[in-house]
Amino acid sequence: MAVTARPALDAQKLRADFPIFEQKIHGKPLAYLDSAVSSQKPRQVLDAMNVFYETSYTNVHRGVYTLSERATDAYEGAREKVRAFVNAPSAREVIFLRNATEALNLVAYSWGLNNLGPGDVVLVSELEHHSNFVPWQYMANRTGADFRMLPLDEHGELRLDLLDETVGDGNVKVVATNLVSNSLGTISPVEKVAAWAHERGAIYVCDAAQAAPHRTVDVQALGCDFLAVSGHKMCGPSGVGFLWGRAELLESMEPFLMGGHMIRQVRFETTTWGELPHKFEAGTAPAAEAVGLGAAVDYLTDVGLDAIAEHEHALAAYALERLADVGGITSYGPPADRRAGIVSFNVDGIHPHDVAQVLDSEGIAIRAGHHCCQPLMTKLGVAATNRASFYLYTVPDEIDRLVEGLHKVRKILG
Ligand SMILES: Cc1ncc(COP(=O)(O)O)c(C=O)c1O
Repeated sequence: MAVTARPALDAQKLRADFPIFEQKIHGKPLAYLDSAVSSQKPRQVLDAMNVFYETSYTNVHRGVYTLSERATDAYEGAREKVRAFVNAPSAREVIFLRNATEALNLVAYSWGLNNLGPGDVVLVSELEHHSNFVPWQYMANRTGADFRMLPLDEHGELRLDLLDETVGDGNVKVVATNLVSNSLGTISPVEKVAAWAHERGAIYVCDAAQAAPHRTVDVQALGCDFLAVSGHKMCGPSGVGFLWGRAELLESMEPFLMGGHMIRQVRFETTTWGELPHKFEAGTAPAAEAVGLGAAVDYLTDVGLDAIAEHEHALAAYALERLADVGGITSYGPPADRRAGIVSFNVDGIHPHDVAQVLDSEGIAIRAGHHCCQPLMTKLGVAATNRASFYLYTVPDEIDRLVEGLHKVRKILG
């Protein structure tokens, strides 16, 4: 192992918690370098969901019988874990949804439809995932607001010096950016963006899909108004994520989805809405998934978010250093000290899909594509990149294997 920093966590030991690593792919141990797309799941999460299904399962917030109360307690217990995880002032500000995409759409629709209009400005950045881009672009078009993009510098970092210029004298109403970029690993100083937005009378929406799994996220310290997270990227199951929002904003908003559970009273003439968080949780809740997410929060908290961030940071630095030695590699994004555990690169003259396919034959899983960031790809002047992304179970040996794999790619296809 060539990583010089003392390891803050024992990734090799943690791997034993993840059954997926017990298999081989094409006869080789699985090197899963695609955690930014979705993380693997530890036994602790799988067991928590299994136990819930075997002992406590029924619909939540419905019955008055014992099982129903048990299920509801488990679901609401998970909400409290999530509240503590992001240091939200109140659990009623935590809305369980399918994923970050749904959370961002909820804000764009429920807040945007009633708060945006001609003369207003919606500001995103060139670094956004489509989930934090398309809903805002759509809502701006639909309401007649202006849709603007904050440019990036040559390292893929936000040009905060251009905030005023990008907006001009437009009435900026909402600023939406990610905290960690899924494409480049850029960690953005969103506290500054939030403070700027508030000075201009705008709200700030934080896409924390790539941040919450990997570093401490504190909604109060960040100063955001909304925060979107996906459970499946943070060792939790797919099918659950959450939105945190400031209570006074959530209270002022119309529901996003309507139906069972989100109402106070339904009459032929009109319907009134339930209290937070129920107003935004229409239909049968993802109860077992929320329980799994609660177990994931426990797991990550136990390992330590600072230790995870430090571990991934060391891996990113190591990967950038080793990739530079391969030759014929163009890498994208900020220097190692300003990025999370994500490394995007291209092998000169070889399509990313071909690179990923050769690596797969070595048991190495990386992502190849536009990473749902086509505006960023346009900015970089490429159609796609390769992306290796790391997590608490990633070991330096997997990066060594990636580098050996890339030598093979160049030999076969170069
Ligand atoms: C930065 C970022 N935002 C939003 C999303 C959307 O997450 P999901 O597909 O879980 O809704 C992703 C997924 O890759 C992401 O990386």
